[in-house]
Amino acid sequence: MRSSTGRWVSGDDFFDRERELQILETQARDRNHVLLTGQRRMGKTSVVQELGLRLKDKGWIFLSTDVEGATCAEDAIASIAQAIHPIRSISSRFAITMSRWFSERIEEVSAADFRVKVRAGLNAGSWRHYGEQLLRDCAAQDQPVLLVIDELPIFLKHLLHGDDGARHVDEFLSWLRGALQSIGDGSLVLIVSGSIGLEPLVKRLGIPDRINHFYPFRLGPWDRDTSVTCFNQLAEGYELQAEDDVAAAVYDTLGLGIPHHVQSFFARLRDHAVMQGRDRVTVADVDDVYRNALLGPPGQSDLMHYETRLREGVEEESFSIAMEILAEAATQEVFTLGARRCLERLYSTVVDNAAGRITDALDVLVHDGYLEVGADGYRFPSRLLKDWWAARFRDHHIPLETRRTEND
Ligand SMILES: Nc1ncnc2c1ncn2[C@@H]1O[C@H](COP(=O)(O)OP(=O)(O)O)[C@@H](O)[C@H]1O
Ligand SMILES: [Mg+2]
Repeated sequence: MRSSTGRWVSGDDFFDRERELQILETQARDRNHVLLTGQRRMGKTSVVQELGLRLKDKGWIFLSTDVEGATCAEDAIASIAQAIHPIRSISSRFAITMSRWFSERIEEVSAADFRVKVRAGLNAGSWRHYGEQLLRDCAAQDQPVLLVIDELPIFLKHLLHGDDGARHVDEFLSWLRGALQSIGDGSLVLIVSGSIGLEPLVKRLGIPDRINHFYPFRLGPWDRDTSVTCFNQLAEGYELQAEDDVAAAVYDTLGLGIPHHVQSFFARLRDHAVMQGRDRVTVADVDDVYRNALLGPPGQSDLMHYETRLREGVEEESFSIAMEILAEAATQEVFTLGARRCLERLYSTVVDNAAGRITDALDVLVHDGYLEVGADGYRFPSRLLKDWWAARFRDHHIPLETRRTEND
């Protein structure tokens, strides 16, 4: 198993997730479409790629596409078209439907060109028809077909931010549901996945039924044992000697077994040992590396993505509310009911429906895994995320409840 801190992993670099794979495989065999959610960096893309690899070994066709860059339905359909291109039995069938745009033989067109040509043939009036045909051609295969559409919520957010956004989101999701229903129980199974909340989004738009044909499955963190075993396996592979309690200290320091954080911690500890000319790491190194590398400048760029994603996840007007909540939970350990009342009072003079916006922001923060609900309020389950946000806000966040006394 190689250390990886970048893109998704599969095959020899993929660790564990056996139970999750078993559940996903069962759903796929039963022809249930799945909505796979989970905090970013939890390993969603890796788990679906690994599932695809394993199903391919069992005779399935595996297709996957990432629609993060799509800004309209036509783009999303063209992305799916690019994914099906290598499977000639599907792409040549589909090319016949769109023959007006294909003068050459399908073998002579690259996947990227195929996408461009399909995209050129789609417009606001035709994407539904061709999109459905594309799914229909997948479903008409003798072999079962798994199609993964990754980062679907980000694409929907792009739609939402455009003109008449809510209507376009509704149109796309209604189309997808209608198309899958009309195709019926063919060979096609769909997994849509993404980290930012699709459920809070459709709930907010008042259209929760548009995604109820998906079986929701949430990918959680690794438990302590799994994180420890993964760490030790990495150490063994790189011949890095780790003091007995190092792997457990890594987990306890992180507070939550987000696979990417376990991997990053390993990579930083290994670098640390190399820089010191050692092939051994100790428990003392864990704390040192946590403070200086994971929380320090090298880790910041990675964690910055969380802020970007959050901005995409909530409505523009709710973003500053979400940041206030995170700042409070990070610097005060918990966002209490009292703090929530203060926040509502502070914002009621600035935005309309402050209470509703706070509820929306909390919905997204919980759904996307930043915070979890406890007896006394909302807390960060991940110590790394908490410490990072605390470092970001420490110097300028005034605790909400003290602001109340100042205002009164
Ligand atoms: N099963 C796994 N085994 C080993 N590393 C993993 C696994 N899942 C995730 N990771 C680590 O997390 C990183 C992000 O994984 P990815 O699948 O891209 O997450 P997501 O799609 O949820 O954002 C990977 O680069 C890898 O370092
Ligand atoms: Mg991903």
